[in-house]
Amino acid sequence: MIIGVLKETGTENRVAILPAEVNALKKMGIDVLIETAAGERAFASDSAYISAGAQIAERKDVIDRSEMLLSINPPVDDEINSFKVGQVLCSVLNPVVNREWLEKARIRGLSVLALDLIPRTTRAQSMDILSSMATVSGYKAVLEAASLLPRFFPMFMSAAGTIKPSHVLILGAGVAGLQAIAIARKLGAIVEVFDVRTAVKEEVKSLGGKFIEVEGAKEDKAAGGYAVEQTEEFKKKQQELIQQHAIAADVVIATAQIPGRKAPVLLLKETVWSMKPGSVIIDLAASSGGNCELTENGKNIIVNGVNIIGKSDYPSEMPSDASKMFGCNIINLLKIMVDKEAKLFLNMQDEIINGTAAVHAGEYISQRVRQLLNIK
Ligand code: NAI
Repeated sequence: MIIGVLKETGTENRVAILPAEVNALKKMGIDVLIETAAGERAFASDSAYISAGAQIAERKDVIDRSEMLLSINPPVDDEINSFKVGQVLCSVLNPVVNREWLEKARIRGLSVLALDLIPRTTRAQSMDILSSMATVSGYKAVLEAASLLPRFFPMFMSAAGTIKPSHVLILGAGVAGLQAIAIARKLGAIVEVFDVRTAVKEEVKSLGGKFIEVEGAKEDKAAGGYAVEQTEEFKKKQQELIQQHAIAADVVIATAQIPGRKAPVLLLKETVWSMKPGSVIIDLAASSGGNCELTENGKNIIVNGVNIIGKSDYPSEMPSDASKMFGCNIINLLKIMVDKEAKLFLNMQDEIINGTAAVHAGEYISQRVRQLLNIK
């Protein structure tokens, strides 16, 4: 089998496969075609790919010759007709945003594997691209906050007096939030954490964070470990408590999300106005509406001297390790799709493949895609 790796468009710096992962694919009997300069912005040269055993080709050639195409983001809209019927496209899809693209791909007869739909199960953990990228985001968010903050994170006892440690408030202790707690603690800050899932309480504590509990949170085991929409009464209580802690915080890292829905608004306008000038809010939920009422997606704004960072492309800002993690996750996914003779077989009876296959053989397959796109 030949797998093609496409060069990303726009501002994306990552690449789906780095040269080290080409080696792993070759060992599985898979040939790899890399689009010219695909790894350039992730510091992987064409010659490094060639040394690892890949071939370099122009985009059209990569598309024509590959059975499966890998990319971080789905290829651009007007390219759909250049793909062959039955070809497998594998990328982070974001099905709600790319709904029209997906419908065109279905009509064209492509198989689209959405890496953001890989089930959050123990068996699929090694393939979980969302967790890998959230790890990068949580890490970079704290570093960005520390570099913007006009204060130290750790406590210092110096000849010039004692510097008090900074207070970091983390909203949402999923993968990104937990990583942010770990890094903020390593930098010496005092960390407080809110989440609606009480299951994370122990993890927060073990990382050195203080879990602030709001009574009455709604949890649903059927939500697969994800958070669910809360009652109006809970939201009000939580917003008030968050406001008290945000006023005392120097940094807020907001990561709270509810899959398929708008992110919960946890930091109100008036809370920002009561925060200390010079403090920093990093809103990792910006692309799904933001946890802060004032966040503007993709923008850095300053309100009342508070920096509000609405970035959601941190993984692209750390392209080497983000690409490395992405490629390793893909290889683990390929291990359940490729047999010993290096033949590709999409077994729709396998819960991981079934859950990840957005469209296949002209049908919407994944239950989550059907739910998200409201397909009966
Ligand atoms: P996410 O990005 O969907 O949400 C981030 C965090 O925000 C979650 O912890 C969520 O509970 C919290 N949140 C949502 N609404 C909130 C509110 N109103 N107030 C405060 N916090 C709120 O989460 P992520 O990182 O994608 O993880 C979701 C779940 O998936 C977790 O239970 C995690 O343990 C599980 N997971 C399982 C994996 C596996 O087994 N393969 C891999 C990664 C995650």
